Amino acid sequence: MASRDLLSLLETKEIIITCGPGGVGKTTTAAAAAAITAAREGGRVLVLTVDPARRLADALGVAGIGNDVVAVDPALFAEAGMEARGSLSAAMLDTKKSWDELIARHAPSEETRDRILSNPLYTSLTTRFVQSHDYIAMERLYELHATGEWDLIVVDTPPTRNALDFLDAPARMADFFSSRLLRWLIMPSRSGFLGIASKGFAQVADRILGRQFLADITEFFGSLESMYEGFVERSQAVRRLLSDERTAFVVVSSSELVPLREATFFVEQLATRNFLLACVVLNRVLPRSLADSSATEASLKISQDSDHLAEQLGAELKVDVNVAKRVLATMGESFTDLSVIAHREAAARANFSLGSASMVEVPLFDEDIHDLRGLLRLGEFLIAKD
Ligand SMILES: Nc1ncnc2c1ncn2[C@@H]1O[C@H](COP(=O)(O)OP(=O)(O)O)[C@@H](O)[C@H]1O
Ligand SMILES: [Mg+2]
Repeated sequence: MASRDLLSLLETKEIIITCGPGGVGKTTTAAAAAAITAAREGGRVLVLTVDPARRLADALGVAGIGNDVVAVDPALFAEAGMEARGSLSAAMLDTKKSWDELIARHAPSEETRDRILSNPLYTSLTTRFVQSHDYIAMERLYELHATGEWDLIVVDTPPTRNALDFLDAPARMADFFSSRLLRWLIMPSRSGFLGIASKGFAQVADRILGRQFLADITEFFGSLESMYEGFVERSQAVRRLLSDERTAFVVVSSSELVPLREATFFVEQLATRNFLLACVVLNRVLPRSLADSSATEASLKISQDSDHLAEQLGAELKVDVNVAKRVLATMGESFTDLSVIAHREAAARANFSLGSASMVEVPLFDEDIHDLRGLLRLGEFLIAKD
């Protein structure tokens, strides 16, 4: 059944990537899948998180440490009531640091490295462009995977406006670095002065952007030139890694209409790209009992009859009848409200077309998931055999 698939994927894949609309629980699901695999299946498991909520980052020990990988203390598993068979490590993606490290690692000389790192354009590109986050996330994944230190890497994805950007980032980077546009851009820096071909551009750019900006561009791409080949190679390697049998994707969604629509689009796009969809996780699902018609009927009756019931209850429980009235009326109304939402979400789920993908449901917990105990609790739902 559905979740059986996820369990076997967690056992056999090297990389699992969680993706989906923003705010639905991607980061939580990634961390929970990693934690439960480390606990139940064993092996060395790493979760690469992108924007963990502060309390979760604290619990995993990755708050404020930038890019480093940290081992989650095994004692935390014991505290959460589970003896871990394997080990769990966590890392957080720090975009700026990852770029700096990448440049430092691949620059042919210290001088080139410093020239790139101090170029104003570099700072803009690496911090402001959303797509640079996507690209570096993939570089980081490539690099962590290449160490061979992990049996499974679970990857959380950034909350991108276009959810597919990060999937295409490696290919786009490869295209860019082998493009004619780029060669054209760096021509002036090669020849030491602005080439004929770019003179028209230079004049326009000069007027609009200023000479300094143009100088920064040509110098920047010129310094990067010796690293192009590496960029292209690694981009292609990541693309292969994502699309071969070592990797599977998990789409996370809530049961609301808009996220479900986005998730559907995501499922289709993964298929178009030949990426393997492991399953769809429907997170924060309201209890089935809320959508039960007899429960709706009961809550309506309680609301309607709250005066009479409050008198009986007040006397029996020795509480103020008026207070009891308020409590009963509010309870009845809240239940009705929730059941309306539950009905709406059940209808949305029923309309949600997944193709052949399987579905795993995770209930809405009564509190935020901010520690290993909570992650393991959620993880049990991810792998539950139904
Ligand atoms: N099943 C759940 N029940 C209750 N709270 C949840 C559940 N799943 C996630 N959360 C909470 O929702 C918030 C957003 O989750 P997060 O994983 O950061 O979303 P995303 O990464 O998709 O933006 C977090 O505070 C998290 O603890
Ligand atoms: Mg997140």
